[in-house]
Amino acid sequence: MSKVGRLVVLVSGSGTNLQALLDASADPSYGARVVAVGADREGIEGLVRASKAGIPTFVEKVDDYATRAEWDVAVAARISAYAPDLVVSAGFMKILGKPTLQAAPLLNTHPALLPSFPGAHGVRDALAHGVKVTGCTVMLADEGVDTGPIVAQEAVPVLPDDDEAVLHERIKTVERRLLVEIVGRMAREGWTVSGRSVRIGNHTGGEST
Ligand code: GAR
Repeated sequence: MSKVGRLVVLVSGSGTNLQALLDASADPSYGARVVAVGADREGIEGLVRASKAGIPTFVEKVDDYATRAEWDVAVAARISAYAPDLVVSAGFMKILGKPTLQAAPLLNTHPALLPSFPGAHGVRDALAHGVKVTGCTVMLADEGVDTGPIVAQEAVPVLPDDDEAVLHERIKTVERRLLVEIVGRMAREGWTVSGRSVRIGNHTGGEST
């Protein structure tokens, strides 16, 4: 990454992970700063958080395009306009296609220990399965649903009286800290991908072998 990594963050909801990145990047030594926030819908708290921080925003809705492929091209163009070093999908509830994946490396965060419980309901599915431990995963995105190479994971206990909301909040407390740590380290130290193995450190950018 360049000296201070340029981040475009994508959101679909409350944007607490975005807020954690905004807060962290207030410190110049963090190594990365949010240069734009994109969303797939209007009227969400994530966009309000960006505006309050003075960060430019954009919205691209799937329904405004004849095909999903056209939407993908539009999202990629919006992202490319900010020349990011890294795109962070932080609660962005859409799968992004090739155009976006080619625009910049895409980091994703998911509220379960992948490869268990991928998709839009990772917390609900883990709870329904009766697992005693779940957690969060930070991974590089590929064209699949939560199938990309894993960068970091952390476990979170499931407690007997948990419902989806309570468990998700416990996960998100860990997830925000992990995402901030990983994005900062990737920005400061670089990273390499070898097959499914991601290694942070000793490199100046995201290189694949
Ligand atoms: C986060 O828990 C994130 O992992 C999840 O949405 C939440 C967004 O919270 N994403 C997914 O489930 C994607 N499959 P936030 O809007 O408060 O950052």
